[in-house]
Amino acid sequence: MTADIANAWDQFADDYQRKGRLGTESAHYGPDIPDERELRLLGHLEGRRVLELGCGAAQCSIAFARAGATAIGIDASAVQIAHARRLAEEAEVKIELRHGDMADLAFLRADSIDVAFSAYAFQYVEDLNRVFRQVHRVLRVGALLVFSLPHPAYFPIDEESGTPPRVARSYFDRSPERYSWEGVAFTAYHHTFADLYMGLARASYRVDLILEPEPVPGAPRSWFWHDAMDWVPRTIIVRARKEGS
Ligand SMILES: C[S@@+](CC[C@H](N)C(=O)[O-])C[C@H]1O[C@@H](n2cnc3c(N)ncnc32)[C@H](O)[C@@H]1O
Repeated sequence: MTADIANAWDQFADDYQRKGRLGTESAHYGPDIPDERELRLLGHLEGRRVLELGCGAAQCSIAFARAGATAIGIDASAVQIAHARRLAEEAEVKIELRHGDMADLAFLRADSIDVAFSAYAFQYVEDLNRVFRQVHRVLRVGALLVFSLPHPAYFPIDEESGTPPRVARSYFDRSPERYSWEGVAFTAYHHTFADLYMGLARASYRVDLILEPEPVPGAPRSWFWHDAMDWVPRTIIVRARKEGS
């Protein structure tokens, strides 16, 4: 399935980067919500080794490097990685980029990462618990895993259905969701609230924060905006710490 998602992102990356217009000044967590400048979930990054999972064009990793971190980004899509190389060059920062599956972190030593981060990539991963275990191996004890993904309550709704939005599938339905985004076919996976929490707990993390940010009031809306985002949280952000194994 990683090959399918890599292929979808290879097809979509140029359009996404052109229309999404994501900045490199600060790490983002999702559309139309505050970014790291306001949320401050990652702590001081100077001198830290930060791993970004599903980095796309690595706007967040570039922001980490600008803050003095050693940033390492991994993504399954070669075209996204090519965008990342171009943006890093334009920003004149050095980041390490890997083309590969985030569930395979064998290239990293155990206990070598200070912060693991991911924005809007985990919904494309069926076996997220495997990723949690892999990341646990490479994180230092006490280090943070911070990630965002579509909110489990937003996932089942049809965002094109008007206001209020209609629930289009059962919250309990964990079968893959196949959808088309600007003509490109994607498959995404529904990770419920309890699945996320239990996966982290079983992989020996302690969840210390969960955020469901509201859209920034009065701000201009992004290309990703749907009115449904005023009704149901679009994004969930989870912060967890590695406990000893
Ligand atoms: C919505 S994009 C988000 C990219 C970036 N984090 C951002 O905020 O722009 C999702 C990214 O996850 C990547 N991805 C999906 N599954 C992956 C996997 N198993 N391993 C590595 N990257 C993956 C895709 O190639 C794509 O670049």
